[in-house]
Amino acid sequence: MASLRIALGADHAGAAYKTLLIQDANAFGHETIDHGVAPGTERSEYPLVAAEVAAAVARKKADFGILICGTGIGMAIAANKVQGIRAANCGNELSATYARSHNDANVLTMGARIIGSDLALAIARAFLKEPFQGGRHLERLGLIPGALGS
Ligand code: RB5
Repeated sequence: MASLRIALGADHAGAAYKTLLIQDANAFGHETIDHGVAPGTERSEYPLVAAEVAAAVARKKADFGILICGTGIGMAIAANKVQGIRAANCGNELSATYARSHNDANVLTMGARIIGSDLALAIARAFLKEPFQGGRHLERLGLIPGALGS
C-alpha cells in the first residue's frame, strides 16, 4: 500500500483509540497528523476536532481523516458539514470497504463506546487500503450537494 498522510482526531471519549490508530498507521509507514485531545482529558468538544480534521482533508493537507468520539456519530455529522468531505461512520470492515469503493469516503469515523479497539484497527486498515471504483459511483456523488467540493 502507498504511504498516506492521515489526519486523526478524537475527543475525550476517543482519545485512547486515536493513540492506537496512530501507532498502527505509523507501523504501516503512513504519516499521521494528530488533532484533538490526549487520553485522560476530561472534556472536549467533538465538533471542533471534526472541523479541524475535515479542513485538513478538504484542503488536501491529508489524504484521509479518521475521527473517533464516543459513537462516531457526532464526528460524522460535523465533518460532513465541510464542503468536499464524505465522512462515513463504520462499525465493521465491510461498511468501511464499501464506504471507500462506492462512496469515496475521505473521512472514517468510529465510536470508541461502540466497538472494541482491535475492531477499530481492522476497520481503519480496511478503509485505507480499498480503492474507489469511480464510474457510476462518481456520478452519484455528483448528485449530493457539496460532496465533491464547491
Ligand atoms: C461525548 O460524551 C459524546 O457525546 C461524544 O463523544 C460523541 O459520542 C458524540 O457523538
